[in-house]
Amino acid sequence: MQRKAIVFGAALLVLAGLATSAISADGPQFAADGALLFPADYRSWSYVTSGVNMSYAEGAPASAVTFDNIFVNPAALERFRATGAWPNGTVLLLERRASGTGATINKRGSFQGAFAGLEAHVKDSTRFKGGWAFFNFSGEAPAREIPHTAACYSCHEEHGAVDTTFVQFYPTLLPIAQQKKTLSAQ
Ligand code: HEC
Repeated sequence: MQRKAIVFGAALLVLAGLATSAISADGPQFAADGALLFPADYRSWSYVTSGVNMSYAEGAPASAVTFDNIFVNPAALERFRATGAWPNGTVLLLERRASGTGATINKRGSFQGAFAGLEAHVKDSTRFKGGWAFFNFSGEAPAREIPHTAACYSCHEEHGAVDTTFVQFYPTLLPIAQQKKTLSAQ
């Protein structure tokens, strides 16, 4: 009886191991209704890059300087380093920040200021049509999946260099994708 329990326990451990190999502990956390929970500790995740005043619209007028910072959960980055591809359980975040200038000793240039928004791009081919879904957080409340008809999906699918992500703008990731030959035609 005890032996059976041990075997059963071992089988459960193996199953748990299989489950975590697909979605890592630092991967996306969902509410019961499928909304993505706000990743409270994302500032301790792996830093990818920053953009300044990036716009996707032709002839967009120059506005006040805005920054964006990209973060990814460390387990997904580790897989990307090994394979040049994103595993299920990848959470890429785009954080927006307002800018400041002229404060204290600053005479020129801009520094990052107040938090101005957080968007997520999550991979889970068992959950999402096409393997990925986008989310836009409003404060720290759980975010609903953005409908797949939104421009987020078409732009990322058409122009993202690796599996709908903008690795062409991520300077430490691009050489990995080049070496592993995971770049798609953009
Ligand atoms: C017209 C093209 C375009 C559209 C539409 C667009 N994005 Fe992006 N997105 C980009 C580019 C370019 C980057 C790279 C940003 C950088 O380098 O800082 C990016 C990066 C991201 C990232 C970082 C991870 C990644 O996939 O590379 C997230 C998250 C993101 N976008 C979310 C969204 C969401 C949510 C929407 C829709 C509400 C959206 N995007 C719509 C072009 C687009």
